[in-house]
Formats: sequence, structure tokens, C-alpha cells
Amino acid sequence: MQPAMMMFSSKYWARRGLSLDSAMFDQQHLQEQTVSEKPSGVGEPQAEDAGKTAVVFALKNEVGCLVRALRLFQEKHVNLVHIESRRSKRRPSEVEIYADCSCSRREFGELVQHLKQHISIISLDPPEQIWLEEEELDGVPWFPRKISELDQCSHRVLMYGSELDADHPVRDGVSGRLLVRVPYVVVPLVSPRNSGQPIPRVEYSSDEVKTWGVVFRELTKLYPTHACREYLKNLPLLTKHCGYREDNIPQLEDVSLFLRERSGFTVRPVAGYLSPRDFLAGLAYRVFNCTQYVRHSKDPLYTPEPDTCHELLGHVPLLADPKFAQFSQEIGLASLGASDEDVQKLATCYFFTIEFGLCKQDGQLRAYGAGLLSSIGELKHALSDKAAVKPFDPRTTCFQECLITTFQDVYFVSESFEEAKEKMREFAKTIQRPFSVYYNPYTQSVDLLKDTRSIENVVNDLRSDLNTVCDALGKMNRYLGI
Ligand SMILES: [Fe+2]
Repeated sequence: MQPAMMMFSSKYWARRGLSLDSAMFDQQHLQEQTVSEKPSGVGEPQAEDAGKTAVVFALKNEVGCLVRALRLFQEKHVNLVHIESRRSKRRPSEVEIYADCSCSRREFGELVQHLKQHISIISLDPPEQIWLEEEELDGVPWFPRKISELDQCSHRVLMYGSELDADHPVRDGVSGRLLVRVPYVVVPLVSPRNSGQPIPRVEYSSDEVKTWGVVFRELTKLYPTHACREYLKNLPLLTKHCGYREDNIPQLEDVSLFLRERSGFTVRPVAGYLSPRDFLAGLAYRVFNCTQYVRHSKDPLYTPEPDTCHELLGHVPLLADPKFAQFSQEIGLASLGASDEDVQKLATCYFFTIEFGLCKQDGQLRAYGAGLLSSIGELKHALSDKAAVKPFDPRTTCFQECLITTFQDVYFVSESFEEAKEKMREFAKTIQRPFSVYYNPYTQSVDLLKDTRSIENVVNDLRSDLNTVCDALGKMNRYLGI
């Protein structure tokens, strides 16, 4: 089970025998050529129109194809910032290339036209949606500074789940309407839901409700002996307030309102995968991006993709727990402005906690990871004698390989969410950033602590909170006669 973010990692690709290394070599080689061959002043992004975007395209898996494709970037003077490849799951004879570019809007438009004439484009970031302002902090990747800026992240859907059949219905993350998937043209042609708007209700088909019903029935048999106590506490509340029943698929709007009251989290629908950076940025603002489609009815008990059963049964009950919510937000905050390498480490920690985490309760192992709590087979496996288990430690867990289509080689155990949060907080200190971040819950924005003035503002907020605590302690002392 994958999270609703695309795990672009060299480990992931390497395991599948892909040619990331050679791709990187080719790209590096090409960039060297670009630097040396480009006439002075030509192709440099214009200051008023510079930005980053991304494109995903498919190539025949043949020697030289990637070099020829990358030469198209060179011809249009588009700088490549980052590139990854993987074997296409739609057409085994092809590879899919993900490329981050830095260029002007005009150059990107010309590049797209050029690429269309030569290769298959799977997905691209529409420039009007993702063209970002110049970075304020030199060398720091852009990140949302307030909750409304998450809209820019949610626009950047990389692609729909590649494991699903091309004709399997996918729901539009905005309207909930079914989208027709056209092979290789999987760009969401709709505007994502902007923050603050209610999530439209979905009328699920009887087939979808039946599939959900099978998953719900089988998993709820296991929860009493396999799920952590926080999960078991919240599931009945979701039944009461959000219609969690075998014959009803809960609506995201109801779930979002419930979570907001419990932990401050909200959910927002997305049509497909987000990059780890964009997905984790949502967590920083207590926003959880989820898919809204139901797995294929031919196999209700298995899906390699995150579907609504995974989101609603796996993630939501834990997101209602305040300590778990805080732990999730810690990972998100640590990712803001971090390097690609550090974001990947954080995404791996996310994977082995929020997706596949175990905890100890009353001397027994229990599951809190959504990938486990939405998978009958892996939930049984992870708590059996066959599974390897290690203590969660972000310093080592971040190097563990994430397995997507098989059970994990190892699962990581935390004593409590509190302990996991403290470990993540310590780990976050090792991330190289020229600032610290402070989440302001009143404005739902992130303050950068990079000078004495910004730190002083936070201290004033904390002083106000401490006054409230001291006042409460004073009243208690008086009441107790101390
Ligand atoms: Fe997930």
C-alpha cells in the first residue's frame, strides 16, 4: 500500500532494476554540455518570470532514448534541477521520467510543445498553477507559508495510481465525479478544491458500497485484537458521527468536520499522487490529502494504491487522536524548506510510522499504521512471529527500504506517539535549514525563526500561554489550600 504521495527514491527505483544511475549520469553529462554550450545570457530564466515546474514523460526503454529526450530540454534552454526514472507499469517496454525544471514560463511552454512532437507526456504542472514567486531564502526550496498556499501543492498531482487498470474509474478530487482515464493522459484537468470550500458529497455506486462493505466487515473483525487503543476509541465515534457502517461509505466533508473538532486536522481530496514534499507540507498545516476512489471490486481485500478504504479506515481514526495529530504535524513541519535528500528521509520515517507503525500497549504489539489497519493480510502478518520488528529510531529508520507491493521486511515499534514525536523532533534538529519554523495556529501560518525579532514574537506568545498556566496553577493551589 502506498501513501498518497509518490515515493521517488533512488532505493525504490534501484530495487526494481531501473536505470536511475545511468539517467543521472546522462543528465549530469548533458547539463555539463548545457553549461558549456549555452551562449551567454541565452536561456537564463527572466527574473520576473522564473520558476520551477515538473514534467513526467514516457520513453521507449532503449539505449540512447533518454539522452535524446534530455537534448530537447537543452535545445529549449530549460535547466534540469532533478530527474528520476522508473519502468512504466502501463507499458513494460517503456520507462517514465520525472523531471524538475527551472525556466521561464515561455521556455516551459516551448519545451512542452517540443516534447509533444517527440515523446509521450504523462503529466505536467500547469504553469499558471505552479509558477512560484522567487524564493525569499537563497537556496531554500519553496514551501507554503500559510494554509491557503497549500492549494499550490494540491495542484501538483504527479499521476494517478499506476497499478490501477487504465479503465478503472477514478474520482475527481473536487466534485467526486467519475473521471474517465485515458491511457497515458492522466493529467487532472480540473481545478483542485481550494482550502476552505466544503468537500462535495459523492454518490457512490452500489458496486462501490459493496466493495467498501467487504473491506469494512473483514477488518473490523481484526481490530479488537490488532489495533491500538487510540484507534479502538475513535472508531465507534466515527460510526456515530460520520456514518462508518458496512452499508455506507462515509463522506469526506463529515470526516473533515469531525477531525477538525477532535485534533484540528482536516482532509482534502486529491485526484492522485503528490510528491513527498507536497504531501508532507500538508501535514505541517494539519491537512491530510486523501484519495476518494474505491478499489477495484474484483479484489476487495487487496489494493496496491491508497483508496478511500485505506484513507477512511486506515488514517482517519488515528488522525482524530491529538497526540498522533501532533506527531504527524512534526514530520510535516520538519519537511518545510528541507533539501530533497532530507525530505526523502522524512518521507521514509512517515512511511514506517504513519503508514506501517507499531506500538506497544499493555505488553503487546498493536498497529497504528494506516497501511496495516487497511490491509487484512499485512495486519495479521505484522503482528505475527514471522515479522521482523525493531525500535523506531529516525536516524536509522530513514534508511530502511520502503516496499510498495509486498509486506515490509521490518516494522518499527514506538513506545508511544509521545516518544515517537520526541524522537522526530530531535531528528528534525539534524536537518540542515538556515531557520527554524514555528506553527502559528491562530493564523494557520508558519513563522520562520531566523532572527531575534521573529524569536521574540514567539516568546511573547509563549509568555501569554505560560501566564494562563500559572493562573490555573494558582487557582488550584488556593482550592487545595497549598
Ligand atoms: Fe496512506
